[in-house]
Amino acid sequence: MPDSPSPPSAAPVASPPVAEARPALRVRGLGKRVALPEGALTILDGIGFEIARGDSVAIVGASGSGKSTLLSLLAGLDLPSSGEVELAGTALSTLDEDGRARVRADQVGFVFQNFQLLPSLTALENVMLPLELRGDADARGPAEAELRRVGLGERLGHYPRQLSGGEQQRVALARAFVTRPALLFADEPTGNLDTRTGQAVIELLFAMNAEAGTTLVLVTHDDQLAARCRRVLRIDSGRLVRA
Ligand SMILES: Nc1ncnc2c1ncn2[C@@H]1O[C@H](COP(=O)(O)OP(=O)(O)OP(=O)(O)O)[C@@H](O)[C@H]1O
Ligand SMILES: [Mg+2]
Repeated sequence: MPDSPSPPSAAPVASPPVAEARPALRVRGLGKRVALPEGALTILDGIGFEIARGDSVAIVGASGSGKSTLLSLLAGLDLPSSGEVELAGTALSTLDEDGRARVRADQVGFVFQNFQLLPSLTALENVMLPLELRGDADARGPAEAELRRVGLGERLGHYPRQLSGGEQQRVALARAFVTRPALLFADEPTGNLDTRTGQAVIELLFAMNAEAGTTLVLVTHDDQLAARCRRVLRIDSGRLVRA
């Protein structure tokens, strides 16, 4: 019997890189203030928490309490007035705009409360874009598959203005999912969906969490969605009241 090819020489078992032991997110003393003609407005104040890799966290609170502002700071889309956000061990304040964009492209999916789809691109092109930006050879195949997963296989060529609110929301979810990000931020991901479609999106989110270990950070008013998350963070007038 011929010798089977020798197995590759056993590499020493590497201890995981230090970054792996770090939380997905660490937030310290986070504050956001804006200057308005009528005086300074404090939107967020003294927010601190950690989120472990693979965790699922709901951020809840009344309208205007600061949830969307917090999500933007966590993803490095906006800069805090004080404090620090560390994403996968990297302090975002140490990066310039390009550096933060790279971290987002590598690690983060983001679903905006108002979707922010590009109006001049079709649904398919919107979902292909993050794959093209990171240089994937095949963007069309995975983008199409992702749109089918959210039930939009028949709407690939539609422009955002030709889609309903719930359909636009699902395109935004597909665009955020398609890169298989380590961290997914979503602002009211079921806010515009009927119960059944909302339930399907919730299942999709938690399938990503279970299968790919995606850390979920979800702003929501949906009790059903919050109940599925392992942790709930409550914001009241810009302060964390439950961690
Ligand atoms: N750039 C800004 N300039 C002035 N005020 C702002 C700015 N951004 C947010 N705010 C104010 O900060 C507060 C928090 O806004 P934010 O959008 O974070 O609330 P939210 O909790 O997401 O509310 P909702 O549930 O309605 O989406 C609001 O009162 C808002 O008017
Ligand atoms: Mg909001």
